[in-house]
Parts: sequence; C-alpha cells; structure tokens
Amino acid sequence: MLLELFSANQSPAVIQLFTEVFSDSEGKEEGQLIGHLVTDIVANTKAEDLIGFVALEDKEIVASIFFSRLVLPNKQAGYILSPVAVATRQQGKGVGQKLINAGIKHLRALGGEVLVTYGDPSFYSKVGFSQISQDMIKAPLVLSHPEGWLAQSLSEEPLVPITGETACIEALNHQKYW
Ligand SMILES: CC(C)(COP(=O)(O)OP(=O)(O)OC[C@H]1O[C@@H](n2cnc3c(N)ncnc32)[C@H](O)[C@@H]1OP(=O)(O)O)[C@@H](O)C(=O)NCCC(=O)NCCS
Repeated sequence: MLLELFSANQSPAVIQLFTEVFSDSEGKEEGQLIGHLVTDIVANTKAEDLIGFVALEDKEIVASIFFSRLVLPNKQAGYILSPVAVATRQQGKGVGQKLINAGIKHLRALGGEVLVTYGDPSFYSKVGFSQISQDMIKAPLVLSHPEGWLAQSLSEEPLVPITGETACIEALNHQKYW
C-alpha cells in the first residue's frame, strides 16, 4: 500500500470512492451527501487550507482522507479531519489508522497544533483522539451528536480550553453535515 498526497486530478476517483463507501456503510442517501461534500471540498477550498491523502494499491485508490483548516480564536494552528473512507473490501486491515497517522505526522511537520474530528469515539480513540466538551473547543456548527466531538493536541503541550468561536472551511459550513 502506497500513501501519497491527494492531487486535484484524483478528484473523480476520490469522489467515487467516498460515495461508494458511505453508500455501503450508511445507505445511498448518506453516500450521495458525502460524495457532494467531497466534491465541494476539492473544488472550493484554497490549497493552503486543505491537505488530502490517498492510499493506492496496484495504482487504484483504495482509501482517502481530508484535513482542512479550522480557524481557532486563540490563533493556534487548527485542523479538522473530515472525511475519511476506506474501500469497503479493504476495511478492518489497519488502512484507516495508517492513513490518519500519516496525516497527523504531516500536520505536525507543518506546525499544526490542534486537530479535531467528529465521529465514532471508539474508532478515533485508536488514533489519539479523546472526547471533548464544547467548553474545550467550540464546534463551528450545532452538533447533533455532541458525544462525537473529538480532539487531540498535535504539539507537546496538552489541549487547553479555547474560548470563543471557531470557523471551518466553507464546504463543511453546512448544518446537514453536523
Ligand atoms: C471508519 C474507517 C475509516 C476505518 O478504517 P479501517 O481501515 O476499516 O479501520 P482500521 O482497520 O484501521 O481499524 C480497525 C479498528 O477500528 C474499528 N473500526 C473500524 N471501523 C469502525 C467503525 N465504523 N466504527 C467503529 N469502529 C470501527 C475496528 O473495531 C478495529 O478495531 P480493532 O483493530 O481493535 O479490531 C472505515 O471502516 C470506513 O471507511 N468506514 C466507512 C466510512 C466511515 O464511517 N468513515 C468515518 C467517518 S468520516
């Protein structure tokens, strides 16, 4: 398995991957929703605000992940992990964790300080995330599942509460995703 940075010419394959994976796991409607999200992310996010990776096997994209900038009111370098998908037949073999850990390493090298995500705590706790309250870091939109609000420090320093509003990229700035 080869991991590489996402490049724009991989957009069609990556959109298809996310649509298929989420259709398989969550149903067709969710597959379409996440397919649209990824379409919007890759088309409408400034290059400096977006970092994506793909995992390739025999030149085929079998997994992908996006990190984008989360503006924090205390000026720390914040990112959000969303979304990530591993091809249905490749799930449960460690690919997801490998991709997330490679992304974290890359964000650290870029000087990233805080990483948040929104998902299943039992999976994301395997790659360093802990559940946080909105007193620690406020979510940019209203959370329909507050127990899925997760974060980790990317620096040597532990997370400290951050007061004030946060802002995500435009593609994620829609209540239907939260
Ligand atoms: C969630 C996902 C990215 C994990 O990637 P993966 O390569 O299958 O997972 P890994 O093999 O690295 O890790 C497997 C571990 O995570 C757990 N796990 C895997 N998928 C999980 C899920 N959907 N929910 C909770 N735990 C999960 C497994 O129990 C396993 O734990 P174990 O190793 O202790 O048995 C992948 O299954 C996927 O794309 N799922 C569908 C889309 C999705 O839910 N994306 C995440 C939300 S943005």
